[in-house]
Amino acid sequence: MARHKGLVLAGGSGTRLYPITMGLSKQLIPVYDKPMIYYPISVLMLADIREIAIITTPEDQAQFRRALGDGSQWGLQFTFIEQPAPEGLAQAYLLAESFLAGAPSVMVLGDNIFFGHGLPELLAQATAREQGGTVFGYRVADAERYGVVDFDAAGQARSIVEKPSHPPSPFAVTGLYVLDGTAPRRARDVRPSPRGELEITDLLQMYLDEGSLQVQRMGRGYAWLDTGTHASLLDAGNFVRTLTERQGQQVGCPEEIAWHKGWIDACALRARAERFRKNDYGVYLRGLLGEDADSG
Ligand code: G1P
Repeated sequence: MARHKGLVLAGGSGTRLYPITMGLSKQLIPVYDKPMIYYPISVLMLADIREIAIITTPEDQAQFRRALGDGSQWGLQFTFIEQPAPEGLAQAYLLAESFLAGAPSVMVLGDNIFFGHGLPELLAQATAREQGGTVFGYRVADAERYGVVDFDAAGQARSIVEKPSHPPSPFAVTGLYVLDGTAPRRARDVRPSPRGELEITDLLQMYLDEGSLQVQRMGRGYAWLDTGTHASLLDAGNFVRTLTERQGQQVGCPEEIAWHKGWIDACALRARAERFRKNDYGVYLRGLLGEDADSG
């Protein structure tokens, strides 16, 4: 079991997806057949993490509690933390300092969707490192929308630049951050950027300057999907639908991961299947019950 604790950052006002997000938090809107936040939670589960803090705006917290419960249905333990104002990703470490209590963490942004066969191994490598941190560089066609890695001539990452108008490389830093227990302490030294936020890139730069940040490539065999615009949200939903229907296997299904890891028993899985019996998700969960829990 990982020593790491998990953070899902699900604050923000989601204005880019208005009017959808006027009455519902972005991370709760559907990506095909399940709320968006199921996908990042599944990523933390694949990293063997069971203690997870969900960071939301104060107004939206009740919605998240209703949608997610206390986590026990998936063998998890959720803590809900408020982010009073969207003051930057690095602020999450300050808000979660007592929750983390010195533990290393994996933080995932609540609107980031990852898919790829080797994901558990990639995560295991990152969480096996005792000190420093790991982030993932992913090649995109529109790097200016993200934090971007600047590599030196030897191919070593020397800096990470937030939303540069002229990206120094096509490698965006995904919203998945594996950091050691010093992150909250370091986050205290991050000063607000010109846009008034505690930037994650500034926190990462501290690790980089010390030579303790690993920038791991997430290759083309992975999908890192954007949900930031109406069109990309629909694309992400179609991607999930295509895979689900073609393979007859779920993408980002917390019940399935919990079952395969032995975190929930047949009784708990049956209860979930029963709850969703009117749709394909429930039928799928019922099908898992017929399988051996270790069949992967
Ligand atoms: C944030 C980070 C950025 C990162 C991106 C990944 O951007 O600031 O460095 O590349 O998430 O999704 P935002 O989504 O807040 O624009």
